Amino acid sequence: MRPVPSGRMVTTENMKTNIGLNDETRLEVGQILNLLLADEYVLYATTRDYHWNVTGPEFRSLHLQFEAQYEEVAVWIDDVAERARAIGVGAEGNWNDLTKSARSSADPGIDLAPDSMLLELLELHEGLVVQLRSDSSLCLERYGDAGTADFLTGLMEKHEKAAWMLRSQLEGCEEEATQEASHE
Ligand SMILES: [Fe+2]
Repeated sequence: MRPVPSGRMVTTENMKTNIGLNDETRLEVGQILNLLLADEYVLYATTRDYHWNVTGPEFRSLHLQFEAQYEEVAVWIDDVAERARAIGVGAEGNWNDLTKSARSSADPGIDLAPDSMLLELLELHEGLVVQLRSDSSLCLERYGDAGTADFLTGLMEKHEKAAWMLRSQLEGCEEEATQEASHE
C-alpha cells in the first residue's frame, strides 16, 4: 500500500504573499509598476512605429537600430510586469487599460523626419529616467521595498544608456546644422 502523503495543508492563509511588505504597500508599489509598464509600452510602440516608417539615406541603419531598441524594450516590459507579480500584484496587460494609464506620448512615425524620431525617442527615454529616479527613491524611502527600488534603479540605468546613445546621434546632426548656417 502506498503511504498517505504527509505535510502541511495549503490554505488561503499560508498562500498569501508573505515577503515583509504589507498589503497596502504592495498595492501602492504595484501601482507604480503598472504605470511604468504603460509608459514602457508607449516607448516600445513608438520605437516600432519608427522602425517601420523611417525613410531617407540612413534608412537601413536606423531601421535596424530601432529594431534592436524595441527588442530590448520588450524585455524590460516583461521585467516590469513580472516584478509586479513577484510582489503579489496583478500586471496590467489589458490594452485598453494600458492606453488609459500611459503618461507619455510621441509623434506618429509616418512622414516624420529621422532626426525628429531620434529626438522623440530621446525624450521618452529621458522621461522614463526622471520617473524611475523618483519612483526608485519612493519605493525605498516611503515603502521600504528595497527589491523594487533596486530593480527600478537598474532599469533607470538602461534608459540612461539608451538616452546617451540617442543624444550622441543628435549631437552630430546639430553640429552639421550649425556649420551649414555659418557658411551662409
Ligand atoms: Fe521589422
